[in-house]
Amino acid sequence: MLVNMKQMLIKAKEHKYAVPHFNINNLEWTRFILEEVQMLQSPVILGVSEGAMKYMGGFKTIKDMVVDLIDYLNITVPVVLHLDHGSSFSVCKEAIDSGFTSVMIDASKYELEKNIDITKEVVNYAKQKNVSVEAEIGRVGGSEDKENSGIVYASVTESVKFSKSTGIDFLAPALGSVHGLYKGEPKLDFDRMQKISELTDLPLVLHGGTGIYDNLIKKAIECGITKINFNTELQIHWSEAVKKELQCNNAYDPRKIIKFGESALKECVKNKCELLGSINKA
Ligand code: 13P
Repeated sequence: MLVNMKQMLIKAKEHKYAVPHFNINNLEWTRFILEEVQMLQSPVILGVSEGAMKYMGGFKTIKDMVVDLIDYLNITVPVVLHLDHGSSFSVCKEAIDSGFTSVMIDASKYELEKNIDITKEVVNYAKQKNVSVEAEIGRVGGSEDKENSGIVYASVTESVKFSKSTGIDFLAPALGSVHGLYKGEPKLDFDRMQKISELTDLPLVLHGGTGIYDNLIKKAIECGITKINFNTELQIHWSEAVKKELQCNNAYDPRKIIKFGESALKECVKNKCELLGSINKA
């Protein structure tokens, strides 16, 4: 069932667990994730970046694919189809009009006032269509699609002002995490995380889940994080399994080659659901 993310994350915040966001890249990736979360009875958020949207043939193609897979595989756990890092109002609108149930508007590269204005426009449109909205403040480090950025920690006062003036459903405050692989240890600011959670009273989102140690993930959930995004780690597990198998297997059918990574990917999904406490929370 495709759902809006709002109730899912309010419930997670209340019961102190987090829902995993996994980025999808193609049909098989989506199918493997859906099959595993169904088995685990975990809710799930399927994240689609703009790059992945272009790769897969547009928002509408993806929405139809996800809806039809849910139907074909008899998936009954709640599934959110979420735009990850939408860069403008028009991209968010396109995702909403195509049937996405949640969007992230990421105008964090702009000054606070401009970030507020763009985010507000998305919230106003999304609310009419019963679509939930996530937005970012500060800057998550590393690379998203092709853009690289350094870390800028979100300020507590700006986070409060931003949430109040935009009416967003969830806030992704950048607090030291990085997209992709970390150089050195992740340095998350848990004090700020706790304060932002208390003062905004919103479910918080942690980007750059890959490479954050398990104990830090657990601490983040205690501090109010209710959605954690994973992408690179799944890609690494899947590609390592495929490369290993291809050393001794001369398969040429793409269906077989993609499937070589299936159990590694499913194992990774299971580990994240266990870590986040989302199993049996469907
Ligand atoms: P990682 O690739 O570091 O897991 O981050 C994913 C992410 O935050 C997508 O928005």
